Parts: sequence; C-alpha cells; structure tokens
Amino acid sequence: MLVAITGASGAQLAIKFLQSLKEKGIEFELIISKNAKQVIELETKYDVSEINELANKTYDFNDLTAPPASGSYLIEKMVIIPCSMKTLSAIANGYSDNLITRAADVMIKEKRKLILIVRESPLSAIHLENMLKLARLGVVIAPPIPSYYIKPKTIKDIIKNTVGRIFDLLGLKADIKRWGQIE
Ligand SMILES: Cc1cc2nc3c(=O)[nH]c(=O)nc-3n(C[C@H](O)[C@H](O)[C@H](O)COP(=O)(O)O)c2cc1C
Repeated sequence: MLVAITGASGAQLAIKFLQSLKEKGIEFELIISKNAKQVIELETKYDVSEINELANKTYDFNDLTAPPASGSYLIEKMVIIPCSMKTLSAIANGYSDNLITRAADVMIKEKRKLILIVRESPLSAIHLENMLKLARLGVVIAPPIPSYYIKPKTIKDIIKNTVGRIFDLLGLKADIKRWGQIE
C-alpha cells in the first residue's frame, strides 16, 4: 500500500493511521509533501523523521523517477491522508508534477484503489466539482467527518474511529465501535 500525507489540516489523523498500520503489521510506503511537513510541525509534536520511520519505504515528494511514478510498479491501494484541495485539484485535472499526484494519476489510469481523505470546510463549487469528477472515476472520497453516534468523549476517540472507518474501506479489520453495538 502507498500512503501520502499532504498539507491539509489533520496531521494527527495521518500519524494515527500510519501507527495503526504498523501495529497490525501492514506494510506501506510513504510520501510526505513539502507543505505537509510544515503542517506536521505546526499541528503536532512529531518530527517528520519519526513519521518516516514508521514506513517500510519512503520516497522524496519531488522524485518523479521513484517506482510509484510508474504503472509497472504494482501498488494495489493508495490513501492520501489528509488530502488538500490543491492535491485534489491536481489529481482531478491530471496535473502530475510531484510524486503524490503522479502516483494518484497512475492509480486512476491502472484502475486501482485510490482513497482521498479530503479535508476542507466549507467546500466551494470548485472543490465539489473536483470531488465529483474523481468519484465518477471510482476514486473513494472520504472526508474525515466524525461519527457522532459513537458518542466520542475525546479527539482521540474521534481519530480512532475515523482511522477505523478508513481501515474498513481498505478491507482491513478495524477494532471500532459499530452501529448496533453502541450502548
Ligand atoms: C496549518 C495549515 C493548515 C492547512 N489546512 C488546509 C486544509 O485543511 N485543507 C486544504 O485544502 N489546505 C490546507 N492548507 C493549505 C495547503 O497546505 C496548501 O494548499 C498547500 O499548497 C497544499 O500542498 P500539498 O497538497 O502539496 O501538500 C493548510 C495550510 C496550513 C499551513
């Protein structure tokens, strides 16, 4: 699996997602955008190097010679978490000038699974049109909207549940509260 982190708010979500993959022994490769590095610094206490250490392999955001830039490199699933409106726009318009947008372009052309944890609010018509365009191509548009029905007490509860719902989308087993089991 390929995971990319872009410069939208929600770095905590990305870190929890990577930690959960690691805990479950699921291998993944990682690309962090230039702007994501800045947001990680602003929003968390983590150092980018600590986040990179969670991955089995990391790639430079600007390295368009890296394996995920080619359809011949077999990656079945890609998750962009969080996905900025800028990266969303680039993907929706086939503007592949960095390794994240190029890898996403490859996922679409090769008809592989691409999940975008898009993060912005409110959404403009531009954002919505870009999402609609990609949804029609089979891309999963999954904004990290809290499941209020789990009655979360902390942000940690919300993040855990959101990550679990992404695991569901990936067909992985998630240990989360589910509708029908809520007390
Ligand atoms: C602290 C911070 C929070 C941001 N939050 C968002 C956001 O939630 N959604 C978004 O689309 N852009 C957000 N941005 C703007 C993006 O970082 C900016 O558009 C950037 O060009 C995205 O580049 P990237 O997609 O290559 O990482 C934020 C920027 C900063 C500094």
